[in-house]
Amino acid sequence: MAARRKNDSLPYDMFDLAQQAYEARKATLLANVYHKAQERAWSGKEILPLMIAKHGKPSLPKKEREALARIFAIILWGELAAWKISAQLADSLEPLEAKMAATSQAFDEARHFYTMYDYLQSLGYLPERIDRLSERVLDYTLNAKKLSHKICGMQLMIETIALTIFQTVRKSGIEPVLGEVLRYFEIDEARHVALGVNYLPAMIRKMSRLELVEFMYFQFKLMIWVVHSLRALKPDLQTLGIDPRAIVELGKAKQYEVFREMWGDLGVDIKEERSVISRFFDAIDEVYFPRDESTSTLERLRKAANVFVARYSVVDAASQEEAHEQLHSDTVLPGMGPSSLGESKRRIH
Ligand SMILES: [Fe+2]
Ligand SMILES: [Fe+2]
Repeated sequence: MAARRKNDSLPYDMFDLAQQAYEARKATLLANVYHKAQERAWSGKEILPLMIAKHGKPSLPKKEREALARIFAIILWGELAAWKISAQLADSLEPLEAKMAATSQAFDEARHFYTMYDYLQSLGYLPERIDRLSERVLDYTLNAKKLSHKICGMQLMIETIALTIFQTVRKSGIEPVLGEVLRYFEIDEARHVALGVNYLPAMIRKMSRLELVEFMYFQFKLMIWVVHSLRALKPDLQTLGIDPRAIVELGKAKQYEVFREMWGDLGVDIKEERSVISRFFDAIDEVYFPRDESTSTLERLRKAANVFVARYSVVDAASQEEAHEQLHSDTVLPGMGPSSLGESKRRIH
């Protein structure tokens, strides 16, 4: 009963964030996530038909069509998970600007969900249940007990992987309608990552040592599921002519940049203080996603050991720079913002 009262009462301390200079700067960045979302809003009901008119109805051979549909069905349910989590954050976060940013994300994710559903329908695919490993990734994040875990899981980890898949599929040119629509998704998703990067440090700063260990453990466990689900996607990626290792490398560069910025805010240089988690996953990648699939298990393990003990993480510098650009750029595409719709007469009274 007490918990319910607390949940329903007005959060009078929501303006506390602006009390310190650092927090005021973060608050401005978070408020910008909301304002940009409003200024750059687009309609899937406008953009998708526009792209179909431009390129024709999506058409692919059966095998490719099914592989693409399976991957983007995961994205579809991922959009719903992101929608649920951002709506929970909009309700739970108390600093005004973080609440605004989460609210705008919920609005974006609703658009992503129906647009992806419409796209899959245009491809002749009715979304079904996704594979158990991808389902586990989403469930584990949705059911996280702490908000900091949810933000780390969704905004920093899952959203960066989604960004990686969007960018790779778009650049592969496999299906032009999807490629064009994904450009719009990518701009929105980068804002959602910014919400995590700018809000999470304030939460981490308040964590006890035990809570920090729990936070790292959550991240570690989620990453295990992510790696396994990506491994399960290997055949579909290969069917589309996408090298799974390229996805892993680009995803790693994006996550590296995101976590570099986030931990940098807390005075931690992840290049100098390479975590055991980062070492572990760099090593796992050498086993599951080797550059050369024909290498023996022994050779993979030897490479994994070398990568584990290496002083620095092997991240492609150009991809890291590109991720930085993506997080901080402000690209405007046709159809974004109210001006694209032209003026219309509206009766208010
Ligand atoms: Fe999304
Ligand atoms: Fe998102």
